[in-house]
Amino acid sequence: MADPFQDLNAADPAFVSRIVDILEARAKEPLMVEIIESYLEALPWVGIDLAVEVGCGTGPITRRMADHAARAGRGGQVEGLEPSSALVAAAIELGQGMDNLRFATADGTALPHEDGTVDVVVYHTVLTHVTDPVALLTEARRVLRPGGQLVVCDADFSKASFASGPDDPMGVFAQSFVRRFVTDAFTVGKLPAMVRLAGFETTRFDVSNRITTSDDGMIHYVQMCSEAMVSEGLIGQPLAEALLGEYARRRALGELYGFIPFATLIANKSDADSA
Ligand SMILES: C[S@@+](CC[C@H](N)C(=O)[O-])C[C@H]1O[C@@H](n2cnc3c(N)ncnc32)[C@H](O)[C@@H]1O
Repeated sequence: MADPFQDLNAADPAFVSRIVDILEARAKEPLMVEIIESYLEALPWVGIDLAVEVGCGTGPITRRMADHAARAGRGGQVEGLEPSSALVAAAIELGQGMDNLRFATADGTALPHEDGTVDVVVYHTVLTHVTDPVALLTEARRVLRPGGQLVVCDADFSKASFASGPDDPMGVFAQSFVRRFVTDAFTVGKLPAMVRLAGFETTRFDVSNRITTSDDGMIHYVQMCSEAMVSEGLIGQPLAEALLGEYARRRALGELYGFIPFATLIANKSDADSA
């Protein structure tokens, strides 16, 4: 089964409306806010005329970018680009009232910008969902001005874990989610080499952890995978419900432990013409 994030325009509308809620909730988790703010605070907002988030989904990160640009006080504009028209519609709705923010439908392989006209390009959990990340990075390099900055933040899904012990059925869901909803779980480890290939010089590459212990941060791993297993006839509805009950039980007892490393890479468009 192909990762549905590769083409949300072809996905079930019920799935897409669930994704709206999941993306918005994830971006509000305190650990995720720390990760996002750590790279946004590192950007030189006073010198930025145009910052673009590619694959912006419902725009929770784009809205934070617009907030940083507004606080810099020199009229910097922020744009969120996203192939899914349903997510762009949600992003426009959620971003109402921010004057320096706009959204449009576009694919990361064909950005609607002239060469060298963008100051910053951000990809937040996008490159793990595409078949050719270097194609998107190369397109980012084309639109960035000389010295422009690239930010990639993504989950190292290859290390995602949900198990509390050997043979823990909950542990299956981390692997099942990655298999069903991620294109390449090992993208993060390949990032430094890929950005170099695309013509960037990395200035920062570090990893923080997204840990879920007391909230619904990873309940959709269990929900979406158990629903898929029911529809495939692998398990019945009683087991799907029992597994959701187990998530709630662990959360109530403080025994929940979901773990995913999140890498942040910041790079400059290098002068070399190699890309
Ligand atoms: C997990 S979501 C992340 C959304 C948003 N960046 C966030 O973190 O809330 C992945 C996004 O990548 C988008 N995407 C997938 N393929 C893409 C492509 N070729 N170009 C641009 N975006 C793409 C999907 O439509 C989806 O909105």
